[in-house]
Amino acid sequence: MARAPLARRVAELRPTAVNRVLAEVRGVEAQGKSLVSLMRGQPDTATSPATVDAIQRSLRQGRTGYADNQGEPHLREAVSVKLLRDNGLRYDPAREILVTDGATCGIHVALAALLEPGDEVLLPDPIYDAYASPIILWGGRPVGFATRIQDGRFCFDRAAVEAALTPRTRLLLLNTPWNPVGTVLSRAELQAVMAFAAERDLRVISDEIYEMLVYDGRVHISPASVSEDAKTRTVLVNSLSKTYAMTGWRVGYCAADAELIRAMLLGLQQSSRGPATFVQDAAAYALREEQSAVRRMREEYQARRDVVLSALHGIAGVQPLVPEGGLFVMADVRGLGLSSDDIRKFLLHEAGVVVIHGAAYGAGGEGTLRVSFAAGGEMLSRGLERLRDGLQRLSDRSRKERP
Ligand SMILES: Cc1ncc(COP(=O)(O)O)c(C=O)c1O
Repeated sequence: MARAPLARRVAELRPTAVNRVLAEVRGVEAQGKSLVSLMRGQPDTATSPATVDAIQRSLRQGRTGYADNQGEPHLREAVSVKLLRDNGLRYDPAREILVTDGATCGIHVALAALLEPGDEVLLPDPIYDAYASPIILWGGRPVGFATRIQDGRFCFDRAAVEAALTPRTRLLLLNTPWNPVGTVLSRAELQAVMAFAAERDLRVISDEIYEMLVYDGRVHISPASVSEDAKTRTVLVNSLSKTYAMTGWRVGYCAADAELIRAMLLGLQQSSRGPATFVQDAAAYALREEQSAVRRMREEYQARRDVVLSALHGIAGVQPLVPEGGLFVMADVRGLGLSSDDIRKFLLHEAGVVVIHGAAYGAGGEGTLRVSFAAGGEMLSRGLERLRDGLQRLSDRSRKERP
């Protein structure tokens, strides 16, 4: 008997760039080659021992039953204290905060609650590639707007956002610090884009997962904090994954107006019903404890960033951009005269190092490579040696062909 076909929408979903490249990596490793990965956005620092103690305590206390589907009240309270402390934003923990299984789940339920079939979602191009599939899953259409490299950083202006607008545009998706490009949007940039959202009555989803990884004394500014109006139209999405090195714990949160949070909770109840109770207890502990580990982590990643920048210095045709935040250096490789994917493949097969081509994040990323400094130590230094060697070979080759 023939099996029923899969739903048509499955054909529209894409594995993330990291997972696509990982499949290739496994193929190369199966041939016995050793590779060094500078690809993933997973901090290699350990979750703080005190947070690990907190989850053990919670388990021993038998906190293993179903959690409050909106999030345990004491975690929502801790989130609201954090949002006021770090972001200057006041949200009611009873009605305006939802605990989610990481930012991934938060974005998913926000899209579920906001999108009608055919609605368009504006987002900068290039951007984190895992936004497109859930937009499509909920019947929407991701529409990238143009960005440019100016004064060594990726940025965009109002005209570019406006050019992508149509009568079907409903939502704007922002990510600051911005993966993969490393820009931390300034207050002036946020005021301009949020004023545009107000004029066109767009809802905004703001993914702030890298908020604590900002460098050279910068501060992260929440789009919702730039005006009263901005707060009313924004869903703030965040998680503990990066800030507390808790990627595998799957815990995050959203903040928005009570009506939207209620709708998102309804959506969440149809799938996960939120993170495990003991995970939520430990998450509340991590948010409330004193935050010196977060500051140390920021210093460590800034030092790693600088190591990557100096390794990529002085190769003709390669220009690293200095990231203001996040876990990645984007290298402008347009001077090598090859597509970013061809360069990535050369580095994988000939130099033994794994990075991601900028084009994986949208056409606007063509001509760049994303180099992660989420892993440090020996892994970073060996990976950078290989990366430098591979890029130098491509550079020498391109100078010979086009002297
Ligand atoms: C911009 C961005 N948002 C969201 C996520 C996923 O976050 P979470 O682990 O909280 O689901 C990632 C992971 O790399 C990311 O880079």
